Order: sequence, then C-alpha cells, then structure tokens
Amino acid sequence: MPEESWTVLKLLDWTTDYFKKNNVAEPRASAEVLLANVLSQDRLFLYLNFDRPMEAQELSAYRASIKRRLAGEPSQYITGTQEFWSLPLRVSPDVLIPRPETEVLVEAVLDFVRHELDSELNYPIMDLGTGSGAIAIALARELPEAEIVAVDVSMPALKLAQNNAHLNQVDRKIHFLCSDMFSGFSPGWQKFTVVVTNPPYVSQAEFAELPPEIRDYEPRHALDGGVDGLSAIRRILREVPAVLCRKGALVMEMGADQAESVSALVRDSQHYQSHRIIKDYSGIDRVLLAVKK
Ligand SMILES: C[S@@+](CC[C@H](N)C(=O)[O-])C[C@H]1O[C@@H](n2cnc3c(N)ncnc32)[C@H](O)[C@@H]1O
Repeated sequence: MPEESWTVLKLLDWTTDYFKKNNVAEPRASAEVLLANVLSQDRLFLYLNFDRPMEAQELSAYRASIKRRLAGEPSQYITGTQEFWSLPLRVSPDVLIPRPETEVLVEAVLDFVRHELDSELNYPIMDLGTGSGAIAIALARELPEAEIVAVDVSMPALKLAQNNAHLNQVDRKIHFLCSDMFSGFSPGWQKFTVVVTNPPYVSQAEFAELPPEIRDYEPRHALDGGVDGLSAIRRILREVPAVLCRKGALVMEMGADQAESVSALVRDSQHYQSHRIIKDYSGIDRVLLAVKK
C-alpha cells in the first residue's frame, strides 16, 4: 500500500483492486469486513464515512489484516467473528467457521420440536460436535424452555462455545461437556429427545481438493470424515440410539453427495421408524431427520 493520505473510500477501492488482482474471493466484501473490523465499526459505518481520513495506527493494523487475507487466512479468523442465525459469534482456528447451510439444521430441529414431537416428551436436546456453539446457542435462543447439552471432543472449542453462549445470554441454559461422541454419557443419563449434529463429513479425496483457505486454516478434526467421509456418520448412527428416547430424532447435516449412502445406513439399522432428507437453500440434500422407534 503506497505511503500517501488515505480516506475510507480510497482505501476500499485500492484494496478491492489489489484483492482482485491477487484472486482473493469476494474482494470488495473482504476489504469492507477487514476495514470495519480495524475501525471497530460495522460495514454501514464505512458507507456513511467515505471521506474519513485514516490515521497511521489504523493503516498499519489494516495493512497487517490485508497481509493475512492475502496469505489465504479466512476473514472470519482475522476479525475473530462470524454471524450465525443473526447472532454474533467469536471464532478462532480452534473451531469451524459456522456455515449458512447449517441454519437448515436449526430450522429442522425447531420444526420437529414444535410440530412433531410427542407432547408427552420433554427436552433435553444434545448438540454433538458443537464447535463454536452455533447450533446450541441458536436453539437456546429459540426455545427458552429447552435444556441443551453441547458436546465436543475439543476442549478449546468448548471454551469458545461457552464464551459465545455468554455473549448471547444463554450460558445458563446450556451444559457443556467434553466427550468423544457419546462416551461421556453413562446409561443412567436422561435420554435426549433430539440429538442434532453437524459432524465431520469430508472424504479424504475431497479434503485434498478443498480450497487452501479451508484446508490450511480450519481444524482438520472438524472436517475429516475418513476415507469415504462417512466414518463419524456411521458411528453416530450406530451409537445415537442408546442416548435417544423413543420417538426422539437424530437431525444430522451431511455432505452434498451423501444422502443415498446415509439413507441406506438408516434403513439397514433396526432403530429408526422413519427418516427423511431435507434440502438446503441451494436445493442440495443436506440434513437427515431420523425418528427412533
Ligand atoms: C463440522 S464441525 C461442526 C461445528 C459446529 N457444530 C458448526 O456446525 O459450525 C464438527 C465438530 O465436531 C467435533 N468432533 C469431531 N469428532 C468428535 C467426536 N468424536 N466427539 C465429539 N465431537 C467431535 C469437532 O471438534 C468439531 O467441533
């Protein structure tokens, strides 16, 4: 970035151009997100302050952000934030950046709980592999009476999820538990009416082809689903019946081409009375909802 006097607009235009030349995805949006973060403002502020001169300190912080973005780091890890379900979340390289399509999972749970759940059944709900806490927090906000248990095998992820729950005023409604899948739940635990999960489901071949911004920055244990991408999914389908109550539901995200294999696994299992596949906003089969016998 040349040494000269900069205003917000001039800087945004320069960075957009620079990002375009260097093949950074969504160049204008990235420039705006990074600049707004350096100024501790939202993007609207930039539009209302195009002529605002930049101070030396701000410029140097912004230069550092641009350098990180150019190296491939996702904007969300640079700013440390990502919205999910219109809620603010902190994110770090310890957790997957929550994706918009995962909101379909939240919608499916809400729909099931509000319209299909046997009225005699009560909560709790488990969010297995909570990561940043995105799903558990969205559900806690939508279902004020629900008891929610958020599980992850990663302690740093759980700590971040707990902070995010506090940030969104639902920390008292969610219990956080470090467990490898369901191993932390003894047979004496209360059964769950819903287990919702966005498990690692990327196959080995797909992993090698992921954009570097995902492959080199997001946590591998959050993505890697083994050779065919179905290792965690198989284990969940096998183990979840032990923690689900009768007529309770497993609501699980899956990869774009996994619906057929996942449906076959559900059919082969003796534990489910029905199941369906729900599409995401792009029309891709994305979520399994399986009801236990
Ligand atoms: C795809 S990420 C989902 C994160 C978050 N729920 C979301 O949707 O943004 C998968 C999560 O599962 C966790 N995980 C992976 N293997 C696990 C296991 N065996 N037991 C519990 N959690 C696990 C990872 O640490 C990661 O946080």
